[in-house]
Amino acid sequence: MLFRSLTVSTLAGVAVAQDLTTLLMSTPELSNLTSYLGLFPELTATLASLQNITLLAPNNKAFMKLLNSPAGAALVQNDTTMIQALFTYHVLNGTYADFSDKQFVPTLLQPPQFTNVTGGQMVEAVTSENHVSLVSGLLSNASVSSGPVNFTGGVVHIIDDVLTVPQNISETAIQFNLSAAAGALISADLVTTVDSLSDVTLFVPNNEAFEAIGSALPKLTTQDLASILQYHLVQGVVGYSTLLQNGTVQSVQGNDLTITIEDGEVFVNSARVVVPDVLVANGVVHVIDNVLNPSNTTAAPSPSQKSGSPAFSGASSASNIPFTSGVPMPTSTMGSQSATGATATSSSSSGAAMPAKTGAMGAAALLGGAVLVLNM
Ligand SMILES: *[C@@H]1O[C@H](CO)[C@@H](O)[C@H](O)[C@H]1NC(C)=O
Ligand SMILES: *[C@@H]1O[C@H](CO)[C@@H](O)[C@H](O)[C@H]1NC(C)=O
Ligand SMILES: *[C@@H]1O[C@H](CO)[C@@H](O)[C@H](O)[C@H]1NC(C)=O
Ligand SMILES: *[C@@H]1O[C@H](CO)[C@@H](O)[C@H](O)[C@H]1NC(C)=O
Ligand SMILES: *[C@@H]1O[C@H](CO)[C@@H](O)[C@H](O)[C@H]1NC(C)=O
Ligand SMILES: *[C@@H]1O[C@H](CO)[C@@H](O)[C@H](O)[C@H]1NC(C)=O
Ligand SMILES: *[C@@H]1O[C@H](CO)[C@@H](O)[C@H](O)[C@H]1NC(C)=O
Ligand SMILES: *[C@@H]1O[C@H](CO)[C@@H](O)[C@H](O)[C@H]1NC(C)=O
Ligand SMILES: *[C@@H]1O[C@H](CO)[C@@H](O)[C@H](O)[C@H]1NC(C)=O
Ligand SMILES: *[C@@H]1O[C@H](CO)[C@@H](O)[C@H](O)[C@H]1NC(C)=O
Ligand SMILES: *[C@@H]1O[C@H](CO)[C@@H](O)[C@H](O)[C@H]1NC(C)=O
Repeated sequence: MLFRSLTVSTLAGVAVAQDLTTLLMSTPELSNLTSYLGLFPELTATLASLQNITLLAPNNKAFMKLLNSPAGAALVQNDTTMIQALFTYHVLNGTYADFSDKQFVPTLLQPPQFTNVTGGQMVEAVTSENHVSLVSGLLSNASVSSGPVNFTGGVVHIIDDVLTVPQNISETAIQFNLSAAAGALISADLVTTVDSLSDVTLFVPNNEAFEAIGSALPKLTTQDLASILQYHLVQGVVGYSTLLQNGTVQSVQGNDLTITIEDGEVFVNSARVVVPDVLVANGVVHVIDNVLNPSNTTAAPSPSQKSGSPAFSGASSASNIPFTSGVPMPTSTMGSQSATGATATSSSSSGAAMPAKTGAMGAAALLGGAVLVLNM
């Protein structure tokens, strides 16, 4: 008798964790995700078999936004690589019931073209006043709307925007309107090299920084320019802002860079980081307000000034933004957010209007088809 009542009360006291499929099927605001997963039985089976994961599950609102965006149109086109990348990026490696104030969390993102980062491509979790934002590629920001809910393999958090898979450096520079840097990489013939390294930290000067030393640029040989750009690049360490501290680090060019953190602001030599932590396929980009000079490694920060003096003595400002001819315009290929802050445009809405139509039509077709699959 005693045994029996104990058993009963024990069972009643324990919420038996359900498996992922049961959880998804019984959550109305995840019905679009559930339907869509129904189209990919193998991917879904893999997902359901994983242990010790956190699924960031986009709700129906997020799903509709995706399908009405250019990225949604790509899904409609049955881009299996993108679909795999998108799903696997929403799976965190580990059970994260909550997150610290600012934390970079490894994901199971595949394939390698989006994640040449040891330990896995990251998502940045930012918590303030109980609100959790998940920042992904191109600084897209998704909010956690509810969760965590336990399942047998870990936890699920429901999010109200789909994450943006980190893009390569050259694409990210174009989408962020960092057109001078994008063009400089092309001029120095470094695009493929930079995009195909693993574990990089790249400091990318904004357009104003290149403009400020405009008079010095035409004098540079391709070799000089390559050397300057390589001085902005660190290989072998992905320097997320949470890891940066006072000290020096060797650049790919060979000379050291000096990192200084003062009053919460990050400087590299005399340049200030104006937009930190842009996740890219092979590491992280920090946007800076000065072009770094490998022949001027002692250039020091001046935190009280809005922007430090250029590290190239005698250089004067150009009237045009250098290197920009031939650099494609931003098109906002992914996600729903624009890259505010990186001297980016407020939006590329005119470009996005057309794909939106395709997306909307595709949404109906896709989810209609999905219902059929699930009913079978
Ligand atoms: C997708 O979500 C929308 C909005 O909540 C809903 O009206 C629609 O029925 C859902 N479609 C499927 C297939 O779950
Ligand atoms: C996408 O392509 C795969 C393989 O080519 C196919 O099995 C699947 O049915 C396609 N899905 C859609 C929604 O067209
Ligand atoms: C997940 O993280 C563990 C360490 O915590 C690591 O050993 C494992 O390789 C990671 N899995 C993947 C697929 O990256
Ligand atoms: C779960 O994953 C985290 C992160 O990869 C790891 O530190 C931890 O040891 C894992 N726990 C179990 C029980 O596998
Ligand atoms: C990843 O980086 C390595 C160099 O460390 C390179 O050989 C490889 O091609 C890169 N992979 C991708 C997919 O870019
Ligand atoms: C993300 O967006 C939400 C809502 O707009 C905002 O409250 C939050 O501060 C943003 N988070 C980050 C890290 O930008
Ligand atoms: C979820 O799981 C964690 C760790 O296993 C446990 O501490 C927590 O109480 C569970 N939450 C619910 C609502 O069951
Ligand atoms: C970078 O990404 C863009 C967009 O996905 C792609 O067109 C381009 O080929 C990639 N560049 C390299 C060098 O991989
Ligand atoms: C880093 O260096 C700056 C400038 O020298 C100094 O103000 C700051 O206190 C240092 N921070 C730490 C943690 O040592
Ligand atoms: C080095 O940089 C500083 C700005 O930090 C600048 O004042 C100085 O002129 C530069 N020196 C050379 C040789 O370019
Ligand atoms: C990119 O930024 C520059 C200023 O740095 C601005 O003149 C230009 O209009 C911007 N391009 C777009 C497409 O917004």
